[in-house]
Amino acid sequence: MQFPAEFVFGSATASYQIEGAVHEDGRGPSIWDTFSHTPGKVLDGDTGDVADDHYHRLDADLDLMVDLGLEAYRFSIAWPRIVPTGRGEVNPAGLAFYSRLVDGLLDRGIRPVATLYHWDLPQALEDEGGWTNRATAEAFAAYARVAGEALGDRVHTWTTLNEPWCSAYLGYSSGVHAPGRTEPLAALQAVHHLNLAHGLALRELHQVVRPDAQFSVTLNLHVFRPVGPTGEAARATVDALANGVFLGPMLEGAYPAESLEVTRAITDWSFVQDGDLELIRQPIDVLGVNYYSTSRVALWDGVGERQRADGHGASSATAWPGADDVEFLPTDPPHTDMGWNIDPQGLEDLLVELGRRYPDQPMMVTENGAAFPDVVTEDGRIHDAERTDYVRRHLRAVLNVREKGVDVRGYFLWSLLDNFEWSYGYSKRFGIVRVDYETLERTPKDSARWYASVVRNRSLD
Ligand code: FCB
Repeated sequence: MQFPAEFVFGSATASYQIEGAVHEDGRGPSIWDTFSHTPGKVLDGDTGDVADDHYHRLDADLDLMVDLGLEAYRFSIAWPRIVPTGRGEVNPAGLAFYSRLVDGLLDRGIRPVATLYHWDLPQALEDEGGWTNRATAEAFAAYARVAGEALGDRVHTWTTLNEPWCSAYLGYSSGVHAPGRTEPLAALQAVHHLNLAHGLALRELHQVVRPDAQFSVTLNLHVFRPVGPTGEAARATVDALANGVFLGPMLEGAYPAESLEVTRAITDWSFVQDGDLELIRQPIDVLGVNYYSTSRVALWDGVGERQRADGHGASSATAWPGADDVEFLPTDPPHTDMGWNIDPQGLEDLLVELGRRYPDQPMMVTENGAAFPDVVTEDGRIHDAERTDYVRRHLRAVLNVREKGVDVRGYFLWSLLDNFEWSYGYSKRFGIVRVDYETLERTPKDSARWYASVVRNRSLD
């Protein structure tokens, strides 16, 4: 089994996780600056102030991508570099950085895949309510237009949002991500305003970017394994809450009845205005799917302690508003350093199911990869066999679903570099290239060499 020539192999990163240079060239503060500088929010008090210093090492990092044979690079644009206070004044120096990045990719024959929002909301907008505020969606559309005007002649694929599930539920309900709020209603408002932002931004982009540009959104669709007699009921609930609220409006033009039902005690969704759903549902060229692991769910019996092994950080507040009767059971080993189970079959099941429901919707895996506690051996190398094995098995899953006729057109390995893993700080290494956080030196791991050979040979053997 081979990957055809038109299948795209890339790697992915995100602005706050790698760039550093947070005070440079007119960048405004984002909610992640505020959050990471708030004691107790990020492990060991780590921040993205320096991160991988990618902002200053752009050319060397681009050269590294060439060495690894990457065909595409999925990066994100930091909204506060472009529009430092979220709306209004535009910062030319910020645009210049991404323009250099895009040119640098094209010069090297690498396809630019740009994400407009990978979680670094300008703090000024959070001060006005953040994603609970409808005006944030409008500000996002204006920012998308500015980015599109500046880069739209060169960017191949535009992705509006990365994992709006995390932005809404981890940011506003469990509070383990910025802005760290724990208000169930706010999370559901955020869901809708993120959906609206996606639709509004697509409308703007269409007007300003090259006509052959591709449009997408990246979702972290959850795969829930039902356990026992109540498993299916539990699965339906969390599926409606996590997957239905995005797939429904974006691809089908409505919030599923089940999503409204599950959240009924929290909101009547009256913040959805006339015309919103038409705006949100727009054709996209490619659906981005991020996949790491699966979870096991059942209904809680109300007696024993409710198990909450959902893999999304420790908080006394729930990431699942309206699903208090669902429990997340521990998953079976093996696990990665994140504690996430390794279940390539989950990726296969997910892509097959999406292909069944949306047969005309092309897809790409926009993130997949694994954190392991890497060791630098005496030869100076990083023999990260577990990471290679993880990626190999998930690429095998992609080949399997393609055999079944599912239209998956690309794969982006998370991540190019070790980086700031949100509330885990620098403790989790996802890179195929090691970053020494003392010297900022980059060292390709064995997995990087292996990945380069896969790209070259178009096969896993
Ligand atoms: C995803 C995020 C990405 C990274 C990986 C491990 O949820 O999109 O930024 O943190 O997980």
